[in-house]
Amino acid sequence: MTRLALNGGKPVRDVKSNPWPKWPVWDEREEKALLEVLRSGAWSYNGPREKQFNEAFARFTGTRYALSIANGTVALQLALEACGIGYGDEVIVPGLTWQATAAAALDINAVPILVDVTEDTWCLDPAKVEAAITPRTKAIIPVHLYGSFADMDAILDIARRHNLRVIEDCAHKHGGEWNSRKAGGIGDIGSFSFQLSKLMTAGEGGALTTSDPVLYERLDALRNCGRRPEPEAGADKGEGVYADEGNFIQSGNYRLTDFQATLLFESLQRLPEQNKVRDENAIYLNAQLSQLPGIVPMRRDKRETAEAYYNFSFRYSQEQFKNLPVVRFREALAAELGCAVDSSYKPLNACSLYTPHTKPWRYKLTERHWKRIDPTRFDLPVCRRIYERESVCFHHKVLMGTKADVDQIVEAIRKIYDSAEDL
Ligand SMILES: Cc1ncc(COP(=O)(O)O)c(C=O)c1O
Repeated sequence: MTRLALNGGKPVRDVKSNPWPKWPVWDEREEKALLEVLRSGAWSYNGPREKQFNEAFARFTGTRYALSIANGTVALQLALEACGIGYGDEVIVPGLTWQATAAAALDINAVPILVDVTEDTWCLDPAKVEAAITPRTKAIIPVHLYGSFADMDAILDIARRHNLRVIEDCAHKHGGEWNSRKAGGIGDIGSFSFQLSKLMTAGEGGALTTSDPVLYERLDALRNCGRRPEPEAGADKGEGVYADEGNFIQSGNYRLTDFQATLLFESLQRLPEQNKVRDENAIYLNAQLSQLPGIVPMRRDKRETAEAYYNFSFRYSQEQFKNLPVVRFREALAAELGCAVDSSYKPLNACSLYTPHTKPWRYKLTERHWKRIDPTRFDLPVCRRIYERESVCFHHKVLMGTKADVDQIVEAIRKIYDSAEDL
């Protein structure tokens, strides 16, 4: 029997001679674009590159408007504020997500309601969303997590019946499609992150998409210290969304720079081909994983007409791996492959980065409010099982190479299966 890498054996992949594809991706196009911005002196504040990127991103997502924002966390916050959501309002978010999805609601004094996910997509469970609605509910934030899509048909139907806003958290879904509609163009507002690990990146950054001119106007003011949006050249200032010149709104500075915007524009040019390669490799890999004992690929819904993978993930069954705990399985897989192999996010009712009680001077408005925002009051059994027992996640860069690369993932799993008793 071959010795496992964790026990000193030869790993399946020798990353010194055969490294995984690099991330982020850049070449002389980015170098040239950055130098142009540098020399132009137009480094920030509604610069020409920002405008160019906003227009291109709106076209790409099939929305009327896109706005660049400092990052994906404040993008969610501004989206909620633009919908008029604030103190005491309830916002439904999945229990399995990066803490920002819930923290954005917390930071505008709303009450994040943590709802459990479905076991085969790890996205909001529509039945549990419906059960969580109260007269105070104002919005749902579905997260299209990793390689999955939230069931947008069911969520939009619930939102319509209860008169709720839908803000899509698309931090993982640049270019993904549901029923041929792009992520970020399905709900009222789409929110994107361009942090370094994301499918499009400028190191940091974010964007908001919408087709609603009233929401757009508010979002633009909110991101720019409350200033009114600048009218398009030639637009009639006396009409439409620019009519009420006196209607300013209190806000801060959530802008990004033209250096970031130019990187994002280049990122967007690369995205469709990168998504295609990732998806071809993921389909191929999932077909093989489905043949392995103890491994369950994520369910791909037929309505997902184009897939985008922030992470490639699958479900693991300890019982079929001679009771090898998932933590040890991930360590063994990482050692065989020479790359990070992670769990899912920690459920937000147990996450050390989602802890309102550590900031009592900000959130402790009333004893009643405090109880409502306490994350430990929510029960999230499916999130917990995924995190503690089942989740295995890779960064999307493992899908950016060849079929031979992803074959090694299968080979490494087989090797661990055959020698599980050695661990
Ligand atoms: C699901 C989700 N939402 C929101 C964010 C926040 O984005 P940012 O890091 O750009 O603030 C992230 C970032 O990791 C995320 O994964």
